[in-house]
Order: sequence, then structure tokens, then C-alpha cells
Amino acid sequence: MRRKPANKSEPLVSSKDLSARNIALAANTLADLRRAAAECKACDLWKTGTQTVFGEGASKARIMFVGEQPGDHEDRAGHPFVGPAGKILHKAMAEAGIDDTEVYLTNVVKHFKWSPADRGKRRIHKKPRYSEIHACRPWLDAELRVVRPQVLVCLGATAAQSLLGSDFSVSRQRGQLIESSLAPLVTATLHPSSILRAPDDESRHLQIRAFVDDLKKVARFARKRAA
Ligand code: URA
Repeated sequence: MRRKPANKSEPLVSSKDLSARNIALAANTLADLRRAAAECKACDLWKTGTQTVFGEGASKARIMFVGEQPGDHEDRAGHPFVGPAGKILHKAMAEAGIDDTEVYLTNVVKHFKWSPADRGKRRIHKKPRYSEIHACRPWLDAELRVVRPQVLVCLGATAAQSLLGSDFSVSRQRGQLIESSLAPLVTATLHPSSILRAPDDESRHLQIRAFVDDLKKVARFARKRAA
């Protein structure tokens, strides 16, 4: 739904946003998209995030992983999945036989959304709103158009529900192949950050095993598409 302007003279989107979004629609390279996304002000998250964290990886990757949004580490570094959740993802990929060179990693929202901790300097992750996911969507659509992955993997509920519908249940439907026009094969699994929140070592271990099993399926899908 379009937001109403606060007053009649305020445009709905600034001319800067329009040009960034137009570039998202027209650009044919990841480098052009990344440059344009760095200027994006389509929602307010640019005001509190350090920088846009655009997707990264092989420009013709066979597998695209989509998470929710960059975290604290990613926001500072400017790269996706370089913090604790990213470490779990990369380790699980390696165990599943998925090489870094065949993947593209990105997020449905490309700025870190956070609020200050009650005490101390910690920045606490906040879930993005529908309007923020919607505002960022042209970038993800453009990444899909340029990379054209064979397999699209949604990591966690935010990515899965924004790309596969709000009824999607990761706990019930993880690992299934989902019919979608986004890519030839689309699936969803846990977000690696949920593994970090496991209550004890045993459940963490079980979750890691299940996550690796889902990624092994992804590796098989990708191999089948390549054959
Ligand atoms: N979590 C995400 O969803 N994406 C990142 O890039 C890092 C953590």
C-alpha cells in the first residue's frame, strides 16, 4: 500500500529513490546494482544503518541464499553473512559439499535494523516491517534477474514468508521444493541464527545436523539442474 504524504508538498518518494529504483529495474550488472543500492533511501533504515549491505558472490551462481537482513557484524563490514550466523552457514555449506564459488548470498532487507540495548552499547536486532521488506524488494528482484540462480534458498521465516507467502511455515515445509516463478527450484530452511539461539549443546547439534541435511538436498537439486 502506498504511504500517504505527510503534507501535500512532500513527494511520496524522493527523486534519489526514484533513480535508485529505476537503476534496480534497468541495471544488468551486480556492480551497477550495488552502486545504486548504496544510495537507496526507499525506507528509513538507511538513517540508522552504517551502509547498504548488498548481496555478494558469483555473478552466475547456481545457488542463491536469501536471509533476512544484515546483522551487527555485516552492517559494520559491509558484507553479508560475515558474523556468527554467517560462520554457521559457511561451515554447513562446506559439510554439504557446496562451494563458496557457486553461491550468491543476499538478504530481503539490505540495511541493519536495530535498537539500542537498555544498557551498554549493544545494537539489538529488530525484525523488519512489511513496508521495509517491500521497499527493498526491487533490489532482490534485480539480483534474481541478473544472477538467475538454479536454486533459491530462503533462510528463515522472514525470507520464506516474504518470497513464498505469509502462510509459509519453515518448521513444517523446510526442505520441500516449492513451486515458484522466482527460480527453477525454490526451497526454504532454518535461518542459521536460530541455531545460535538453541537452548543447549544437544539441541544445537541436532539443529546443525538438520540444517546440513537441508543443504545437502540443495546441493543435490543444484547438481540435478546442472546435469
Ligand atoms: N543474518 C542474515 O539474515 N543475513 C546476514 O547477512 C547476516 C545475518
